[in-house]
Amino acid sequence: WPVLAGDIAAILELKRRQNAVILAHNYQTPEIFHCVADIVGDSLALARRAMAVNADTILLAGVHFMAETAKLLNPDKTVLIPDLKAGCSLAEAISPEDVRGLRARHPGVPVVTYVNTSAAVKAESDICCTSGNARAVVESLGVPRVIMIPDEYLAQNVAKDTDVEIVSWRGHCEVHERFAARDIRELREAYPGVTVLAHPECPPDVVAEADFAGSTAAMSDYVAHRGPRRVALMTECSMSDNVAVAHPEVEFVRPCNLCPHMKRITLAGLRDALEHNRHEVTVEPRMAERARRAVERMLAV
Ligand code: 13P
Ligand code: SF4
Repeated sequence: WPVLAGDIAAILELKRRQNAVILAHNYQTPEIFHCVADIVGDSLALARRAMAVNADTILLAGVHFMAETAKLLNPDKTVLIPDLKAGCSLAEAISPEDVRGLRARHPGVPVVTYVNTSAAVKAESDICCTSGNARAVVESLGVPRVIMIPDEYLAQNVAKDTDVEIVSWRGHCEVHERFAARDIRELREAYPGVTVLAHPECPPDVVAEADFAGSTAAMSDYVAHRGPRRVALMTECSMSDNVAVAHPEVEFVRPCNLCPHMKRITLAGLRDALEHNRHEVTVEPRMAERARRAVERMLAV
């Protein structure tokens, strides 16, 4: 604790001196999420709030695609991430060439791209989406068919709820693909009455077995407003830790899988990033302009 407290105090002071804000995703550890972050949320909230940041520097406590999105929306600000290797299996699953290949195979079909992708892939896309707005984005286009990349399970989960036909890709989140429907059946036996919330990056049979599926923010809202007594969140480990702080009255069963990319971000790393002004995230301006269009189109939905 003395070490953590020292890092926390140093980060708060560095933020003040450098006019910096920390944006933290819901999967960050509690000491980051609750003690040093200025803005917390799901990918959609972080993108929205990044647009209105009033600071010289944005320090991203999250993964690389989130820092790139913040940079797209704040081209004149310095965007830092403590570890450039904080990636994502979904972002790794598709390249700009793959998107061009899909367009060639499905001429005229718009490309809806999950924000968990590189700026280069976003630049090849018509519009972005997050897990919090995927169905609304798909339906906003007013077309019978869309290409939705790169998360196969998110695409399948959205396809169940819409009449729009969805062509998907074969990317998976390495954290959520590990959950199985059997896990939920076992949880229900071991913890009677448990309410099971699943992230839509989980396989469709897991989502079907759950009581509710939604983005990390939607899961958090469910716990806050629907009053469950006992909850299992089928998602990354830190999510339960962070939501539990605000809801001591709720029992959290913790069937979690860890995201190794999110866990590259630490208090020591955040302190180091602010002390040494690193690692700066940049996007080539012409590519950034095309990628920004896809993100802004999403934010307008
Ligand atoms: P959301 O917070 O947008 O639900 O995304 C989850 C996720 O896996 C981000 O990497
Ligand atoms: Fe990517 Fe999954 Fe980790 Fe989110 S939890 S950053 S989708 S690998």
